[in-house]
Amino acid sequence: MGAEHKTHQTLRCAASPSLALVKYWGKWNEGVNVPATTSIAVTLSHLESVAEIRITDRADQECVTVGGVPQDGARYAPFFANLRAEARRDAWFMVDSINSFPTGAGLASSSSAFAALAFGCTRSLGMTLPPEKLSRIARVGSGSAARAVYGGFTRFSAGAELAEPVAAQSHWADLRVVIAVVDCGPKTVSSRSAMNRSADTSVYYSRWIECSEDLAARAERAILDRDIEVLGVAMRQSYLRMFATMFTAEPPVFYWLPETVAVIRACEQLRQQGVPAWETMDAGPQVKILTTADYAYRVCEGIGRVADHGEILVVGVGAAPREIGGTGGAPR
Ligand code: PMV
Repeated sequence: MGAEHKTHQTLRCAASPSLALVKYWGKWNEGVNVPATTSIAVTLSHLESVAEIRITDRADQECVTVGGVPQDGARYAPFFANLRAEARRDAWFMVDSINSFPTGAGLASSSSAFAALAFGCTRSLGMTLPPEKLSRIARVGSGSAARAVYGGFTRFSAGAELAEPVAAQSHWADLRVVIAVVDCGPKTVSSRSAMNRSADTSVYYSRWIECSEDLAARAERAILDRDIEVLGVAMRQSYLRMFATMFTAEPPVFYWLPETVAVIRACEQLRQQGVPAWETMDAGPQVKILTTADYAYRVCEGIGRVADHGEILVVGVGAAPREIGGTGGAPR
């Protein structure tokens, strides 16, 4: 390439977050972000991370901004190093990324961000990889990103280095996820450190691991059967057991706010009235509620009374990452 150090045209790619219905919480001893529990997830529609990517031949130019804010290079270095090794290319990346939803607030923005990067960076290198290969690359950035390279429903098995598809986006077209954003601020403890702290210090962690396979099997079957009630019960057991390991960590991790509890109670009341409203949560105070298209309005109404100062989003089942433009040809 010579001494003039060229940068190339930009490529813009989008990916949607992966919401775990049965959670990945804890890491296998070997490998980077290899999960200790099997997770079952759905990729969400409408929410997107968009990454604008340029390749440079100068290592010292590699950088990432999220919403215009420069990120800590150390957070991204293992991801990019592994990507270069997989692609067998000496190329460095300049990335500007934005999220169409709150970042680092427990809405799985790292899953969509790294899925967009795995997809976009390899495309920028002129490679079109199958999702299994992208999954392995995305995982090094964030475990949940291994799932977000697929649309529809996914499984990421304990001990695996890549996620796999369970059902396509079209499989459950009337499924809706109502998201109660009770607090948009970034979390005070990252999911990474909360996970490690739970694993290292909670007396319940080993039991959590032991029981996780059964939950995943039940949830996967329920998805294939489109049975929201069976899925809902497995989901509820999964998130509450995950939080049990956080509440009993030393020091404990509390993401919940008073509004979180109010929304959970509102879901219980809705179910008593015959409305399918099955909640789950991640590393943050937001509550995500699975329902169907027919009941989405009732769920919004039901939780709106208790979370009326927060934002409520309604999304469906989303698609795999995609290219959405740029200024032209990728170098080969
Ligand atoms: O992939 P990470 O490090 O953001 O961890 C994801 C953890 C949860 O969102 C709580 C669960 C999951 O499976 O996505």
